[in-house]
Formats: sequence, C-alpha cells, structure tokens
Amino acid sequence: MSLDVRLTPFGATHLAGFAALAEDPDVRRFTRFPDPPEPGFPVAWLARYDEGRRDGTREAFAVEDPADGAFLGLALAVAIDAEAGEAELGYTVAPAARGRGVATAAVAELTRWAFEERGLERLTLLIEVANVASTRVAERCGYALEGVRRNAYVKPGRRADTAVYARLRGDGDAGR
Ligand SMILES: CC(C)(COP(=O)(O)OP(=O)(O)OC[C@H]1O[C@@H](n2cnc3c(N)ncnc32)[C@H](O)[C@@H]1OP(=O)(O)O)[C@@H](O)C(=O)NCCC(=O)NCCS
Repeated sequence: MSLDVRLTPFGATHLAGFAALAEDPDVRRFTRFPDPPEPGFPVAWLARYDEGRRDGTREAFAVEDPADGAFLGLALAVAIDAEAGEAELGYTVAPAARGRGVATAAVAELTRWAFEERGLERLTLLIEVANVASTRVAERCGYALEGVRRNAYVKPGRRADTAVYARLRGDGDAGR
C-alpha cells in the first residue's frame, strides 16, 4: 500500500519549513533554490507563487502528514502553459522525511492533480543525472526518460547533465 500524504496549497504557515529546506546540501545542489539562500527569499518565493496561482502559471503545494499536519516537503508546478497543455513539475522532501516514499506519494498526487484538475496533456520533470533518488521517484510515478540535456543551465553558477522525464495523459499507471 502506498504512503498517505496530503497536498495543501502553500501559504505563509509553511514558510518556516520551506526556509529549513534551503539548509540541506542536496536541496541546494539539485534544485533551483538559491545557493546560498538570499535573505528574505522565502517570502519573495511565496509572493511569486501566489501571483502564479492567480494567473494560472504556477502552483505550489506543501506536502503534509495527514495524521498531524507536519510539513514534509514541497510539490510544485513550476511552470504551467495552459494553452500548450503542458507543465514542468518539481518536488523536495525534508531530510528527516526521506526514504519512506513521501516523494513518490506526493508526485503521484501532483500528477493526478495536473491531469485531472488542470486538464494538462504532458508533464515534464528535469532531473540531474546524478540525482539517483529523484530519477527513481520519476520512474515509480510513470514518467519516461526522453533524453539528457548535456551541461544544461540550472541556476546561477550551476550547470549539469539533466535528464528530461515526461508523462503523458494517456500513459499507463506508474510501473510499481
Ligand atoms: C529526491 C527526493 C525528493 C526523494 O524523496 P524521498 O521521499 O526520499 O523519495 P522516496 O522515498 O519516495 O523514493 C526514493 C527512491 O530513491 C531511492 N534512493 C534514495 N536514495 C538513493 C540513492 N542515494 N541512490 C539510489 N537510490 C536512492 C530509494 O530507494 C527509493 O527508491 P525505491 O522506491 O525504488 O526504493 C529527496 O531526496 C530530496 O528532496 N532531495 C533533494 C531535493 C531534490 O533532489 N529534489 C528533486 C529535484 S529533481
């Protein structure tokens, strides 16, 4: 049986958990979190996602433990193109919550939301080739490897070989 997680629209109550994520070296290395984090960046980030939620171009969810509401991580639609029917998704799990299926459960639910609630056709994950745990999450959630963008731009000061994984609306269920 898969783990139960809850996706809740990201808001001000999640800012402390969000800021703590930025202290993790893997988050700094493998995501677009600023490295080092600039002062005040969680509030600026929340404002950017609030704006994206209003115009339909982004969405951010806090991943919570349904038993006690504990903040476990983030599940994101970092860029939604409604006209094209496409989105890029992303995710991060707090270090203490890793290794027990939280990301897999969160990405499965985020994928369901994107297809069923946003009506999208194609979802993309961009994952550094070296990030083996994240590529496992993609595969378990039914995403297929389409290729590798070599030495691609990640964020200021960082480029990396980056795998492109995608899942289409018509693809079968996760192969797990
Ligand atoms: C990647 C990440 C989201 C995974 O979260 P998680 O909740 O631990 O993931 P899950 O428990 O659902 O699954 C992890 C899978 O990777 C595997 N795994 C974990 N660490 C691994 C490692 N170092 N090498 C190989 N496989 C690894 C686990 O065995 C599991 O695979 P399985 O289900 O086949 O056993 C988490 O490590 C993280 O937040 N990392 C930093 C931020 C990040 O990389 N985000 C993704 C950017 S694309």
